Amino acid sequence: MARKKIALVGSGNIGGTLAHLIGLKELGDVVMFDIAEGVPQGKALDILQSTPVEGVNCAYSGANDYSAIKGSDVVIVTAGVPRKPGMSRDDLVGINLKVMESVGKGIKENCPDAFIVCITNPLDVMVWALQHFSGVPKNMICGMAGVLDSARFRTFLAEEFNVSVEDVTAFVLGGHGDTMVPLARYSTVAGIPLPDLVKMGWTTQEKLDKIIQRTRDGGAEIVNLLKTGSAFYAPAASGIAMAEAYLKDKKRVLPCAVEVKAGTYGQADDVFVGVPVVIGAGGVERVVEIELNAEEQTGFNKSADAVRGLVKTAKGLMGI
Ligand code: APR
Repeated sequence: MARKKIALVGSGNIGGTLAHLIGLKELGDVVMFDIAEGVPQGKALDILQSTPVEGVNCAYSGANDYSAIKGSDVVIVTAGVPRKPGMSRDDLVGINLKVMESVGKGIKENCPDAFIVCITNPLDVMVWALQHFSGVPKNMICGMAGVLDSARFRTFLAEEFNVSVEDVTAFVLGGHGDTMVPLARYSTVAGIPLPDLVKMGWTTQEKLDKIIQRTRDGGAEIVNLLKTGSAFYAPAASGIAMAEAYLKDKKRVLPCAVEVKAGTYGQADDVFVGVPVVIGAGGVERVVEIELNAEEQTGFNKSADAVRGLVKTAKGLMGI
């Protein structure tokens, strides 16, 4: 069987890390695309030269022309501008919307059957825009946010409890970052829910609240440290988990930004926002709907409405 073809649209910090991880995991052949001339070619050549050392077989190439992504099985999109200190993700909407327009066209013309993972911020609205511009079926596109937000949450919880990150699960819903809705009762250490761990004296509600706030601000914490860009190692690892679930038909249950249909999750209109989904060979095979309590529903509605507000802004910019 021929190797899978994975296109990385955007060859910056996240794109480069994605390319490296794909090789280390031997997921397929990689085409790196960017508007910056030489950057995708240079990074592709550099990573290709690491394959003999790693003992993996993946082809790498770089391009500035969309024809190079023809026939890709998976496209991971990081093209656009990351935020700088003092900027919110939402400040990027105008500039990155234009980028999604060109990326969407490139996908439509060259690989309309691919599974698309969008990472560009502001995430939820960019997934909406990319689906709009590319015309790909809605089950074949999702945004990477929840896997990263829950990974940050898990990291901080594991530190607090002094246990392995492997044994901590976290359940998050909603938009990326500021309006994320962590569900404490579904987040566990080896199956023990967080509220029980508070009762057991493993932590206090106050400490838990601080951890949740740190998770919401997780991206900004790194932007403020780096000063010249935003996080890229954990976002890349998270995007790879989603692509791998599709390529290997793993049926993983992951929180991803997908279209939540009216009538589900208490929503009156369709909206792209983060919910747990099953990812397998059929793309987003199903949305896992859980019952929310009043507080969780309020948080989720706030998050979904924030995305709707940004989609409205985007539509205004698009004149539709
Ligand atoms: N088409 C293709 N590539 C583009 C375009 C475009 N229209 N516009 C910009 N790019 C490229 C840039 O040349 C750059 O190489 O996108 C790349 C972005 O890389 P970085 O600036 O290093 O940003 P990165 O950290 O990878 O983040 C990318 O993901 O998490 C989000 O907020 C983040 O929106 C940002 C995106």
